[in-house]
Amino acid sequence: MEIYKTAKQMQERSLYWESQGWRIGFVPTMGYLHEGHTALMRECRKRCDILVVSIFVNPIQFDNASDLANYPRNEESDMSVCRKAGVNAVYFPTPDAMYPPGYRTYVDVHEMTSILCGASRAGHFRGVTTVCTKLYNTVRPAVAVFGEKDFQQLAVIRRMVEDLNLPIEIVGHPTVREKDGLAMSSRNARLGAQDRINALSIYHALKNAAVSVAAGEFDAGKLISDARQTIEAAGSAGIDYIEIRNPDSLLELERVEGPAQMFIAAHFGPVRLIDNMKISA
Ligand code: PAJ
Repeated sequence: MEIYKTAKQMQERSLYWESQGWRIGFVPTMGYLHEGHTALMRECRKRCDILVVSIFVNPIQFDNASDLANYPRNEESDMSVCRKAGVNAVYFPTPDAMYPPGYRTYVDVHEMTSILCGASRAGHFRGVTTVCTKLYNTVRPAVAVFGEKDFQQLAVIRRMVEDLNLPIEIVGHPTVREKDGLAMSSRNARLGAQDRINALSIYHALKNAAVSVAAGEFDAGKLISDARQTIEAAGSAGIDYIEIRNPDSLLELERVEGPAQMFIAAHFGPVRLIDNMKISA
């Protein structure tokens, strides 16, 4: 497995692969890799000749210094996960190389980034779209795979790729869950034992909403207040949002009459978790 630490080396290698007519597939990550990430790698592997994974905890998408400092990291185990997954190359840049002194350029997707996670995390999506643009220009993928766990991120990336005419196929992959239903996340490692149990209420709230819709409850306000009750009763340290939106436009819904996705962000102990689920038939 090849490892590249600078954009120049990575880009030269990608230009070489392109010149050979090989199709590059890409899975961008922030490391502390789990089964969710490896599922994306397997999906991407089916669609490419050369599989590249980036590992970079992107400072500009964190709105809070302690969240960035506490983000879990494990280079050694990440490299071994990538090796086992048959990754051809890992791009592992340093923050200083990504954003050297004098760095001034950002990519901004409007409107759809000011709702849900964008409402409470100022500048978060600007950080995501900026780093993804830089990663695309370096790795030069024909296809990139993103998880539906970060549903809004996937929608924002699709919008950006279309708006900027980037020649990349974006593929979404369903959320990978623990056996009990908790969405896999690098942040789960920071949950204490009791918070890990309580955090499952997010999954239960989403599931209950889907069951209620199937039983004929279409009022978004009622579905949301039921979900709120489930999560509050489980001792959440604070609910950031619970919303029901159209999965394509991300517009808020008052009634579940067509396609509908429920989105939840809530704190358990020191950890902010997000999850989402299709709740319409
Ligand atoms: P990270 O949180 O490491 O996630 C990397 C990719 O894995 C994202 O596409 C995310 O949606 C996906 N993923 C994470 N948990 C998943 C799960 N349980 N099931 C399915 N997919 C899952 O998302 C980021 O990093 C960053 O914002 C990044 C795109 C790398 C830009 O910095």
